[in-house]
Amino acid sequence: MKADEKLNIIIVGTGYVGLTTGLALGYLGHNVTCVDKDTAIVDKLERGISTIYEPGLEELLKDSGKMINFTENMLGRLPAADIIIIAVGTPSKGNGDTDLSFVEAVAREIGAAMDPDSPPVIVNKSTVPIGTARRVETVIKEELERRGAACTFCVASNPEFLREGAALHDTFYPDRIVVGAESVQALNLLRQMYAPILEQTFTPPHAVPRPEGYTLPALVTTSPTSAELIKYTANAFLAMKISFINEFATIAEKVGADITEVAKGIGLDKRIGPGFLKAGVGWGGSCFPKDVRSILFTSSQYNCELQLVQAALEVNRLQRKKVIEKLQQNLKVIRGSTIGLLGLAFKPNTDDIRESPAIDVIRELLDMGARVKVYDPVARDRYRQAYPEQDIVYCESASEAARESDALVLLTDWDEFWHLPWAEIGESMSKKIIIDGRNMLDRDALIKSGFTYSGIGR
Ligand SMILES: NC(=O)c1ccc[n+]([C@@H]2O[C@H](COP(=O)([O-])OP(=O)(O)OC[C@H]3O[C@@H](n4cnc5c(N)ncnc54)[C@H](O)[C@@H]3O)[C@@H](O)[C@H]2O)c1
Repeated sequence: MKADEKLNIIIVGTGYVGLTTGLALGYLGHNVTCVDKDTAIVDKLERGISTIYEPGLEELLKDSGKMINFTENMLGRLPAADIIIIAVGTPSKGNGDTDLSFVEAVAREIGAAMDPDSPPVIVNKSTVPIGTARRVETVIKEELERRGAACTFCVASNPEFLREGAALHDTFYPDRIVVGAESVQALNLLRQMYAPILEQTFTPPHAVPRPEGYTLPALVTTSPTSAELIKYTANAFLAMKISFINEFATIAEKVGADITEVAKGIGLDKRIGPGFLKAGVGWGGSCFPKDVRSILFTSSQYNCELQLVQAALEVNRLQRKKVIEKLQQNLKVIRGSTIGLLGLAFKPNTDDIRESPAIDVIRELLDMGARVKVYDPVARDRYRQAYPEQDIVYCESASEAARESDALVLLTDWDEFWHLPWAEIGESMSKKIIIDGRNMLDRDALIKSGFTYSGIGR
């Protein structure tokens, strides 16, 4: 195969990772088929409608979506595939272990229909525990045997590091690409798939411009096991960094320091770096919580406790209670109060609410007898669908959530919250109390407007 030849790529799982990866690889010129068992997703994408909120995605779907096949059934396309990327969900089981049933179901489908005379490279892009590349290989072999077939093929590990809210940016302009593969041919094929990104030879999509000063990403080649561990180590470290600053936010409050100043003061040290040093209500999302629990589960199986990671998880659990404590300090009694919440998504620029701090805060406020009004620019419908039993008032705007509330709590740092008419909002509230769970607002201006302001660690 020539280096510039288009590859036939199947991506199984068309969620945040699969759709972003599929659109990007399609834009770069490969023949891409995105597969999802959810027919509603396939149906919408075929009609050019985005199924998730992600900056730039809608435009890219319009531009290159037509060149991508969306289907719920990959069987017919399997024999021609050069690469099959598994990007299905890997949720947490109750005990912290990872539920690999979706990954294994895909492996069985692949084994049942792939062409043994021309086997594709299979790629684990889902975040999966140590040993899953081998497990996928075993499952595929079992299916081949069932058909009376056999062949040599490679299962590579290619963990994904994109951030929701900047998913396309991170896919086109990554810091590094990690590929763990035992076979040189598989590695070369993946190098070919990523060549336009590794060499930045493509014209940037209009909606995803190349950042100024961007330098070529490294291709880190490893064993599959190291690649699997790299993903968990990265997420555990980032989660720990946030929990670290959150822990220091507590001491900053006690001694009268401002954690935002402290974070700036340490972040300028190149050995520390400024990222992931924003104190707030804690981390959530579809990755950090389940991945941290998963690596803790793995480490317990090896009798090697990851004490720092365990502590990061515990600090995060306590951090979510800070908002309630601050409301109690300010309101004294929560029962009967009306609380307006700004933000449901676990972070800005996404509609993803999985393990969002908002879930715990809302549940606790409802249990305590508060009336809860919420506003989020994009995550409202997803939240309502996921938690239909919660008796909360969904608002069309931040101003509506604030109206006649006894306190306002900011949980997601959406840009638009910075620009709100705060003086006007204050006038419409029953009590001018604001808990800034992300330290994003202009504290001095709010205090000047008569608000009682509480941030995290300041
Ligand atoms: N979301 C992120 O920011 C992110 C970042 C890095 C890594 N990851 C990892 O990537 C993986 C996918 O995450 P996601 O957020 O994209 O998940 P998601 O839930 O958004 O999407 C998964 C999709 O897979 C589909 N699916 C499940 N089983 C299938 C099957 N047998 N055949 C076809 N489709 C099937 C589901 O219908 C769903 O649409 C997870 O392992 C996650 O940990 C996610």
